[in-house]
Amino acid sequence: MNPLRDPQDRRLARIPEPCALVIFGVTGDLACKKLIPGIYDLANRGLLPPGFVVVGFARRDWGHEQFVGHARAAAEEHSRTPWREEVWRRLAEGMRFVGGSFSDDAAFDLLRQTLEEAREGHGTGGNAAFYLSIPPAAFPEVLKQLARTGMADNHRSGGWRRVVVEKPFGHDLASAHELNALVDDVFTPDDVFRIDHYLGKETVQNILALRFANTLFEPVWNNRYVDSVQITMAENGGIGGRAGFYDAAGAARDVLQNHMLQLLALVAMEEPTSFDAGEIRTEKLKMLRAVSLPDDIASGTVRGQYQQGWVSGRRVPGYRDEPGVPPDSATETYVAVRLGVQNRRWAGVPFYMRTGKRLPRRVTELAVLFKSAPHLPFHPTDVEMLGHNQLVIRVQPDEGVVVKFGSKVPGTTMEVRNIAMDFQYGEAFTEVSPEAYERLVLDVLVGDSTLFPHADEVEQSWRVIDPLEHAWSGAQPELYRAGEWGPRGADDLLARDGRTWRRP
Ligand code: BG6
Repeated sequence: MNPLRDPQDRRLARIPEPCALVIFGVTGDLACKKLIPGIYDLANRGLLPPGFVVVGFARRDWGHEQFVGHARAAAEEHSRTPWREEVWRRLAEGMRFVGGSFSDDAAFDLLRQTLEEAREGHGTGGNAAFYLSIPPAAFPEVLKQLARTGMADNHRSGGWRRVVVEKPFGHDLASAHELNALVDDVFTPDDVFRIDHYLGKETVQNILALRFANTLFEPVWNNRYVDSVQITMAENGGIGGRAGFYDAAGAARDVLQNHMLQLLALVAMEEPTSFDAGEIRTEKLKMLRAVSLPDDIASGTVRGQYQQGWVSGRRVPGYRDEPGVPPDSATETYVAVRLGVQNRRWAGVPFYMRTGKRLPRRVTELAVLFKSAPHLPFHPTDVEMLGHNQLVIRVQPDEGVVVKFGSKVPGTTMEVRNIAMDFQYGEAFTEVSPEAYERLVLDVLVGDSTLFPHADEVEQSWRVIDPLEHAWSGAQPELYRAGEWGPRGADDLLARDGRTWRRP
């Protein structure tokens, strides 16, 4: 008997059952740069089931050949694994295209028929996932169509039906709640997969391995030993062609609400009793509930906006000169905030979070800074260069973990200086890390929701962001020059606490 016949064995081998993936918004940036290439990479790694079907849905008057050509160009340009013609040929055999708008009943009827044909022709058993890679404003209409046609119904379709929702999950607590209710109305809650692509990154998952697979770190992972935590998500890029979305959102809604609070949750949560999705969610949720804002939001947060400047040797325009941005926009492209975590482990430890666009380089890292030794039996001049002990999880680029501690400088004096012990993925493992979306698409097809934020987590994160947005409303952001590490106010924020930002 083929061992992968049994669903349990398939799950362990992480090979999905035969199924179809429907991508709404298949001509968009996300589908072209991440989803289609990720699907090709999965196929290339032998992780997709035989007879796998990809259905593209978009408002184009395309035939099959045009769609396959479009998908091929995307996969050839953006996939990470080598090109293999036979892999592509097999994948392309399962490709279908349905053209139409989201209000077009006939197009959705055709989609249903296409999935039915896939059940017969490709043996998908009625299994299908719907990926909503579309603007949030279009969610209600698509969900309504999926409900009308019975496509969201597990029983009627004979197999499983899942939906993948891309961020943003609303723009505040009320809208997120509404969106969650809408989705849960059409799909059973366990079949809803909310994407936060940071959770698909190997280095982010490694936070859990580092903390819970070792004994070394746990004893010092608390307010007795930790002075502060700094979480940085810096980007050298600007807003690209996304002015419409970004100007209404700003940095806090765009990434602090999701990616950064998820990083905070993973670094600060208690140990789950198992790696079951529900157990991890319980701990993350408890952690997010314990997050506290600065008493005075005005002095405990900084909002910035980039002006023209130089980034990576290139002159770049200021935010207000970006195409589509109003010349008087007060949207923040940088935010820094001091958060707290109100529980026994973390009370009193500040969590400094900062993110910004058009900073000197792209780097995401979590730095745990330890307290100074309670007593230093050295001559003060010998320890002048000794900084905090630090544990830095480098999420990207140069993925790895760095531990910094004091060491004697060779010579005749007892001079102690900080040195770095560096673990780099690229050197430690021969296997190249999969792309976040590659991992997450596979998880959807396997039905593993461990790396997907639950509705409660999303809503809890908005409970952190809403008061900030409320306090900031009407305020002007502090300007910073593109290519610098954010506004002066961010340095002042830490200086007031007697600290400085790490230079990543
Ligand atoms: C997205 C944000 O969620 O994450 C973007 O909307 C941001 O503004 C992007 O640039 C960053 O992702 P990554 O994986 O490049 O760090």
